[in-house]
Amino acid sequence: MIAVMGATGRTGKRVVESLLRAGQAVRAIGRSEQSLAALARAGAEVRVGDPGDAGFLTEAFRGADAAYTLLPYDVRVPDYRAQQDRMGEAVVAAIREAGLRHVVALSSVGADQGVGTGPIDSLHAQEKRLRALAGVNVLVLRAGSFFENFFEVLPVIRHQGLNADVVEPERAIPMIGTRDIADAAVAALRALDWTGFVVRELLGPRDLSYAEATRILGARIGQPALPYVQLPPEDMAGALVVGGFSEDLARLYVELGQAINAGRVRSLEGRTPANTTPTRFEDFADELARAYAAA
Ligand SMILES: NC(=O)c1ccc[n+]([C@@H]2O[C@H](COP(=O)([O-])OP(=O)(O)OC[C@H]3O[C@@H](n4cnc5c(N)ncnc54)[C@H](OP(=O)(O)O)[C@@H]3O)[C@@H](O)[C@H]2O)c1
Repeated sequence: MIAVMGATGRTGKRVVESLLRAGQAVRAIGRSEQSLAALARAGAEVRVGDPGDAGFLTEAFRGADAAYTLLPYDVRVPDYRAQQDRMGEAVVAAIREAGLRHVVALSSVGADQGVGTGPIDSLHAQEKRLRALAGVNVLVLRAGSFFENFFEVLPVIRHQGLNADVVEPERAIPMIGTRDIADAAVAALRALDWTGFVVRELLGPRDLSYAEATRILGARIGQPALPYVQLPPEDMAGALVVGGFSEDLARLYVELGQAINAGRVRSLEGRTPANTTPTRFEDFADELARAYAAA
């Protein structure tokens, strides 16, 4: 039995579906019975509750051979660090109380830093908590920036005719499709072949700049000259708040962009066959183009 947090989300859903297809018993964890219904029909046991409630999570993890854990990212949260700490503490308490022996935890490139990397600082703190667990084999997957982030850009393209962020246009960073993260998690959850606390990076097929990704996406949506504009931090934060981010998350998001510009959110492993994953942004852009056309 494998317990999966964030089971309705981008990585978790694919983790559940792949494990079920492989004949593995799965417990899918989420906050609403309704959004878990399709996974229940596919054969998953579902557990409905608050991922910040250690008692709930303990019961959801109990008896499992392994768990996939993550800290959900919600841009509307008024105090992001407090929310992430609450969930992170619940996760490690539940791992301990349920006596789990294997955990695959989603984290991010840049989580080695701990200060000044916006939302990634919370993942650094979570890695630290997980590292302190005695007798648990923890595999941390430090993923690059998700291709899926570009779904949030589609309304900006539609209304402003451009993509914008604080990140320097030509600064290439690891970018990855969440399907590749899920597939790496599934392989690990099936093999349970690591011991102790292990960090692995997942970097996508190649580093990509925001300008290049914007050009690729622009070509797919019939706007080959779609510009990428680097915004000043205060303009970006303001735009994010207008777009529904809390003030806190807008500040953290901008801080992350500045950390990327400073070269602080980077691979420590360097590219290897093991951390280079197959899905290309060029292929993922078709999905973005379909969403753009459908909106
Ligand atoms: N975006 C990036 O570029 C990037 C890069 C590296 C790492 N990461 C990390 O990847 C993780 C996210 O993984 P993911 O994309 O697979 O997850 P996700 O799809 O963002 O979320 C997973 C699930 O979390 C639940 N959720 C959403 N908001 C919540 C809230 N406020 N409180 C409690 N539960 C909530 C939702 O499930 P229910 O509604 O069913 O409960 C959602 O389906 C985060 O830790 C993020 O920091 C992101």
